[in-house]
Formats: sequence, C-alpha cells, structure tokens
Amino acid sequence: MTTDNIHPEFSRMLNREDKEDLLKQSAKVFWLYGLSGSGKSTLANALERKLSEKGYYTVLLDGDNIRSGLNKGLGFSDEDRLENIRRIAEVAKLFMNNGAIVITSFITPTCNLRELAKSTIGEADFSEIYIKCSFEKCEDRDVKGLYAKAKKGEIPQFTGKGSSFEEPQTTDLTVDTEQESIEKSLEILSEFVYPKIGKQ
Ligand code: ADX
Repeated sequence: MTTDNIHPEFSRMLNREDKEDLLKQSAKVFWLYGLSGSGKSTLANALERKLSEKGYYTVLLDGDNIRSGLNKGLGFSDEDRLENIRRIAEVAKLFMNNGAIVITSFITPTCNLRELAKSTIGEADFSEIYIKCSFEKCEDRDVKGLYAKAKKGEIPQFTGKGSSFEEPQTTDLTVDTEQESIEKSLEILSEFVYPKIGKQ
C-alpha cells in the first residue's frame, strides 16, 4: 500500500461553512451588555426563543450558566471581570465556529472589555448591543435585590456603585429599555439581528 491514498476526502474535518450550510444560517455573536437589571437576560432569552421558533440554532451564554460553572471562582475585581469576559469570548467563538448564533448577556462594564470580546471574535461576526437603562431605574426595578444590598454596603464592587460602568462612545445598537417596552425592545433587537443571520 502506498501513502498516497491515506487522506481521503471523507477524513477532512467539517469546517464552519459546512456547519452553516447544514444549519442554513450564518453564525454570529450578539453581545448584549449593560447594567445588572437593565433587561439583558430578559431580552436575550426572548430573542433566543424567537429565533428558535423560526428554526435557527442558537446558544445563549449568560451569568446563570457561566458564572455558576465554567467561571465559578471568579469574582468582581477588575482582574476577574477581565478573565470572565476573556473566557466567555473564547467560548462564544468556539460555538460560532461550529455554526451557532450566539447570544451573550454580561455586564461587560468597560470599553476595554468590549474591545477584547470584539477582537477575540472578529469584528465581522460581532455585534455590540448596549441594553441601556440608568442606574436609578435599575435600582428602582431591583429584580434580584442586589441594589438594596449594594446601598447598604454589602456588595463592595457592585457595578455602578464601587465599580464603574463606562457608557459606550460607539456601539452597533442601543436598546433603551427605560424608554421602550420589552415587546418594542425585542422588535428593535430582532430587526437588527435578522439581516445578519441568513435566511432559513
Ligand atoms: S461582568 O462585569 O463580569 O460582565 P457578569 O455579567 O458576569 O459581570 O455578572 C453580573 C451578575 O452577577 C449580575 O447580574 C448580578 O446578578 C451578579 N453580581 C454579583 N455581584 C456583583 C457585583 N459586585 N457587580 C455586579 N454584578 C454582581
């Protein structure tokens, strides 16, 4: 037997395009960021549901499935937030390179962290989506009771109080959940997303 025929075509690894063809979609990462309580998770969940009802294959990464597992042990110092976002961006890229439409939902409080995510994933495939809501309004909503705790000084590095949140200078999309209803916010978000993910 010669060595000429030991690399038949069927041994070639499937690449991103093969998986996108199979799934009939364009893989992308939609990076939702904003204060705790701004509505990121609600919108990310609603968007995922809407896309999967239309037959898209999506992956949702958020605090619940990442900080309790892969990133268990990371806290909220600048260093840990950087490591948190670095790992999430790498994971998002892995899923994207396997054909998935990835939706992420993390505070990502600084411009540098958003830049890191963008450069890891690649600008062409990455959309930065600011879920805008003032600190006061988030404090008012206080869905998880964390703002009340932060006010009493029980959460020392709380984002917006003791740890800063940088307003973006530029972003691909802003969804203002203080001004718009959840339904309208979802509509704005999905109209932005649809043209980027290919037709079913
Ligand atoms: S990030 O800054 O590193 O991007 P991430 O989105 O993963 O943050 O986690 C934020 C979530 O962790 C919040 O929604 C909240 O439920 C919880 N949390 C616990 N401690 C803090 C804190 N000090 N600052 C912000 N969020 C906190």
